[in-house]
Amino acid sequence: MERRAFLTSLGFGMGASILAPSLVQSSNINGEGSTIQTGDWKGLRKLFPLTHDYIQLSTFLLASHPKPVADAIEKHRRALDENPSDYWHQHFLTIDSEISNSAAQYMGGKGENIALTDSTTMGLSMVYSGLKLHAGDEILQTVHDHYSTDMALVHRANRSGVKIQRIALYDNPANVNVEDVLDRLKSAINRDTRVFAATWVHSSTGVKLPIREMADEIARLNKKRKAAQQILFCVDGVHGFGIENQDVSELGCDFFIAGTHKWMFGPRGTGVIWGNDKAWQQTEAVIPSFSGSYDVWMGLAKPEQVPVGEHMSPGGFHSFEHRWALPEAFKLHLQLGKENVQSRIHQLNQQTKNGLGKMAHVTLYTPQSSAFSSGLVCFDVKGMKPETVVTSMHEKGIIMSSTPYRTSYARFAPSLLNNEQEIELALAEIRAMG
Ligand SMILES: Cc1ncc(COP(=O)(O)O)c(C=O)c1O
Repeated sequence: MERRAFLTSLGFGMGASILAPSLVQSSNINGEGSTIQTGDWKGLRKLFPLTHDYIQLSTFLLASHPKPVADAIEKHRRALDENPSDYWHQHFLTIDSEISNSAAQYMGGKGENIALTDSTTMGLSMVYSGLKLHAGDEILQTVHDHYSTDMALVHRANRSGVKIQRIALYDNPANVNVEDVLDRLKSAINRDTRVFAATWVHSSTGVKLPIREMADEIARLNKKRKAAQQILFCVDGVHGFGIENQDVSELGCDFFIAGTHKWMFGPRGTGVIWGNDKAWQQTEAVIPSFSGSYDVWMGLAKPEQVPVGEHMSPGGFHSFEHRWALPEAFKLHLQLGKENVQSRIHQLNQQTKNGLGKMAHVTLYTPQSSAFSSGLVCFDVKGMKPETVVTSMHEKGIIMSSTPYRTSYARFAPSLLNNEQEIELALAEIRAMG
């Protein structure tokens, strides 16, 4: 009753959250925000409090908050600390759809098809836990996926008798090619396969999969299958998202799942799931939403009035100051220009690969072509363990990472927060290890 009484006192009435999309789209919770210019990389770097004591070649791991994001977090934090109840009540009706709409402006698709999560891991778990599958159905995944996909699927299989199969889409990452990937995919799909789970850009090797071609292949197979045997294509897109100039609703997959606290520079603890209508229809909510679905539970609205993304966004009270600041990250990327972002990151990655490729003591695992790579460059230095390379570089003032997989490589992640000189300095240190 408290919820309804409050809505009425505000003059919103029943189900206003569902019924007033135009109001939602036109409002802007964070004000005017930043004024960064298209492709202004030096200006962009100044928006980050990231220390200059190091060359940062692993910024994708967890975002440092750029000023517009930090300002929005601070604004919401202060207001929540001063008066949590009133501030939350003033925003909760409209804010989730406002955030989803801002996500859609950046990533494509419809805002109502986007659920808000706290991370890639949460998004993957929501999808793989919620898919309507039967015992004996098979989920096909790849050996290149991250721990988060692997374990979300293991947990699902342990609960439900769903089977998991794994395939390698390439043996030598440096030579990955479309024909081979499609052949391997086709031959691994069988009559029990209902889901194909894959990762856009592999944090293990830096390989970017040809998602569009893979989706087209699955669509061809689906044409020959009955409705109950259709295969859903689910993609962990966290690497690639915030780099590639891509409308994810045109990538061809059914679900696209990503954290927004890596390449996107969004608040730490934020993420999104985009699903097409067909995909969401085949998925149950796992955690109750606190948005429109709460109105359904109260008897104030019908389920069909609740946008699916809202219904699928895990509810409960969150670190709202972070979630509510997320539109600033999308806005920043749009101001920089998606095309510029893509070409800048590929340019710095190409410079890195060209340099490493000339070193006799270095084995490069990431493909040279930006058609098959994005943002991550994985390599070995002869006679050195990846962790030793990382430690030694850290001592020289360069922060990089080793890949957290059973087979581990040294990894650079040249990003918008780097410049050509920094790449040359990092290459010089690797060269000196020869
Ligand atoms: C491919 C991939 N998926 C998922 C994750 C987990 O992301 P999150 O921290 O957003 O859950 C990572 C790395 O952290 C990753 O490399």
